[in-house]
Amino acid sequence: MDVRLATRDDLYRIAELTRLLTVHMGAYEWEVENHLKHVTRRFNNSRYIHIVAVADGKVIAFTGAELKSGKSAYMFKGFVEEAYRRRGVMRVMEARLIEILRERGVNKIDLLVDTDNPEGRSTWIALGYKTIRETMRKYI
Ligand SMILES: CC(C)(COP(=O)(O)OP(=O)(O)OC[C@H]1O[C@@H](n2cnc3c(N)ncnc32)[C@H](O)[C@@H]1OP(=O)(O)O)[C@@H](O)C(=O)NCCC(=O)NCCS
Repeated sequence: MDVRLATRDDLYRIAELTRLLTVHMGAYEWEVENHLKHVTRRFNNSRYIHIVAVADGKVIAFTGAELKSGKSAYMFKGFVEEAYRRRGVMRVMEARLIEILRERGVNKIDLLVDTDNPEGRSTWIALGYKTIRETMRKYI
């Protein structure tokens, strides 16, 4: 497996994986082309860093982060294709992302995870993230 910074050629595949992520999260389903516009806008903005993992000749996972003011960054929800999960792909991508963020002076990463996403929560806990705040909601 190769983990590297995304290039422009990866954007369509990142958009496809982003669509799978939104389906997985039960969110509103955009077409790949809509995700591509969003992903391309971010890619063209130097505040965003995109990381991909390549295995068997194709991009099988992505993650990334947005540089925030001060020394902090906000990590995207990542996605690893189902067939490649639990093999340390996110662990390696996150480590690479941290290297890049440290080089840019970042010393703190925030992320959001849904309470009903146990695999997401377990992953971030395993990678050293701690809950610092909880969002509450009431349907009315
Ligand atoms: C969450 C996700 C990105 C994890 O990617 P992954 O490459 O499978 O994660 P890794 O193999 O690097 O796992 C690292 C550690 O996280 C924990 N972990 C990962 N998936 C887990 C699961 N399903 N259940 C329990 N712990 C899990 C483990 O401690 C694991 O280490 P171990 O396998 O040595 O025990 C992947 O499951 C995924 O894409 N899920 C769908 C999208 C999603 O929920 N994204 C996160 C949104 S916040």
